Amino acid sequence: MAVSLYERVNEEIDIVSLVSEFVKLEKQGKNYMGLCPFHQEKSPSFSVSPDKKIAKCMACGGGGRAVTFYSQIKNIPPSEAVTELAKRFGIETNLFQERKDRNEKYYPLLDEASNFYSFALKNTELGHQMIDHLNTRGLNDELIDHFEIGLAPNQMDALYQLLRSKNYSVSDMIDLGLVNQGKDGSYYDVFRNRIIFPIKNERGFIVGFSGRSIDKNERAKYINSKETVTFKKSETLYHLSDARGHVINQKHVILHEGFFDVIASFKAGFKASVATMGTSLTNEQASLIKRITTHVIIAYDGDNAGLNATLKSIPILRSVGLKISVLLIPNKLDPDDYINKEGINKYQNLIENNLLDSYLFTYELLSKNKDFKKADDITVFKREFLKVIHNADISVINFYENKFLKDFGINLFLSKTPSPIPQKEGFIYHKIVNRAERTIDKVIVNLLLGNVHSKHIINNLDVSMLITKEQKLVYREIADYLELIEYNQINLNHFLENYTKDKTLYNKYITDVDYINNLPIKSIDELNKKLSDINNYKLQLEIEEYKEKLKEINSEDLKNLNLKKLLKKQRQKKKLKN
Ligand code: GTP
Ligand code: MN
Repeated sequence: MAVSLYERVNEEIDIVSLVSEFVKLEKQGKNYMGLCPFHQEKSPSFSVSPDKKIAKCMACGGGGRAVTFYSQIKNIPPSEAVTELAKRFGIETNLFQERKDRNEKYYPLLDEASNFYSFALKNTELGHQMIDHLNTRGLNDELIDHFEIGLAPNQMDALYQLLRSKNYSVSDMIDLGLVNQGKDGSYYDVFRNRIIFPIKNERGFIVGFSGRSIDKNERAKYINSKETVTFKKSETLYHLSDARGHVINQKHVILHEGFFDVIASFKAGFKASVATMGTSLTNEQASLIKRITTHVIIAYDGDNAGLNATLKSIPILRSVGLKISVLLIPNKLDPDDYINKEGINKYQNLIENNLLDSYLFTYELLSKNKDFKKADDITVFKREFLKVIHNADISVINFYENKFLKDFGINLFLSKTPSPIPQKEGFIYHKIVNRAERTIDKVIVNLLLGNVHSKHIINNLDVSMLITKEQKLVYREIADYLELIEYNQINLNHFLENYTKDKTLYNKYITDVDYINNLPIKSIDELNKKLSDINNYKLQLEIEEYKEKLKEINSEDLKNLNLKKLLKKQRQKKKLKN
């Protein structure tokens, strides 16, 4: 029983996928081989044995079991490696169980409610009708049990009465979204005459419910528990806790829109299935996925809404670093309908052979029904496509640039276009960001030309104001280089030939006529003006962000702001307006 956490992490983690994050492995017989990450070598001596769960270099002896390997490669103490790995691979630890869960006291009530719904499904006349109905939708008893599906009977207060009789607190019932109080003071059940899906958090505790209407005339097809202390819809993925083991084994998760899709996929053998429950994917949900796998397969509905939802979730999943594939379901069907109409085999075939990578999916969806003789259509395509592709590898960007040229005879100059600024909305915001980006680029070009006061720039440019990934990379490299050569100016040729890891990063700065024509910054005054502009942009952006939020002050958000400067800036701006 008393297996240590070290043992469990070493045992339960898939050593091959862990090592693959750091070493390119190739299969050789039962084992995998790669170049040792702990010493320099030309031919692979680093051997990973999935059976023995060991990853070790036969030449230098580096590595070992999962915890040792990880602590060596991340250069952290083993104790830290254990907890980090346990967390990342979702291994429940006493540590986590001991961690205070503020909601613990609510779980018995929610559990009891779920038991009640299950009981009602299996022991009432309406329940039996519903089981027949679920059977015709392809849900057998086993699935009904696995997903703990229940029935909220068509009665006003059956659940309330039961919970009351078991001495649960009425205010908890209300807070947890199960019971409401009517105008006459009486209590009634929130879920009535609906098929019930319990929703669990990532620890496997029931935190809320969703009810599917039975009555065709009912307006709301589904109702969910309201947002409660336990149920935060945007931070929850349906079926995640049950899918976790499968996700880790299969090395992917399948992301659906709805409950019935998860169940159908599960039935088809794809047990690593979860759902967003209809609404758009959130960053929190993407992070939940990232904690247990590196690859997500989006399997939303095949209709237009589903395709657009897919498009929207791609950048969100990418932003947490997930590899993304897209399953296209034919004939505008959802996975559930497809499986019921076409059968499990055809669905398995789709998943095994018909996944699109997210770039190709986006390319095809965005170019469909467009007329690229029209400038507007080109602009829209380019803008939307860049959102998905802007931080892809440069070769991928080039590939699509060429593909578009071949398909439509137009060069989009994808590889030369500054990446779009996602996240914040709003015209003014974008205008400021664009201007800031150009000014920063100009200063960077000057660093590269080495003609004006490089050290002055390095000392005075507000690094947190750098906007694009390229700017950050480029700036970091130049600053490091200047530090290294202990000289005030860059030698561009030397730098490009001998120092930078990726010359192509600098293409836009040294070849783009737009930049070159604006150069160089002639005097230190002009340079100072540019630097102070860049700082001002930052303040302006902060103002943009804060001017909408005056209803309520969130001290946490203000923590990192220089309030005095911000106020001064706001005053100046007001003066200008008057
Ligand atoms: P069936 O129509 O029974 O097959 O359900 P479905 O899962 O195919 O539903 P649909 O594709 O319409 O919606 C996908 C998911 O969005 C559902 O599983 C729900 O989580 C959510 N959803 C759908 N309709 C509603 C609604 O009216 N209200 C709420 N809150 N969520 C909904
Ligand atoms: Mn459906």
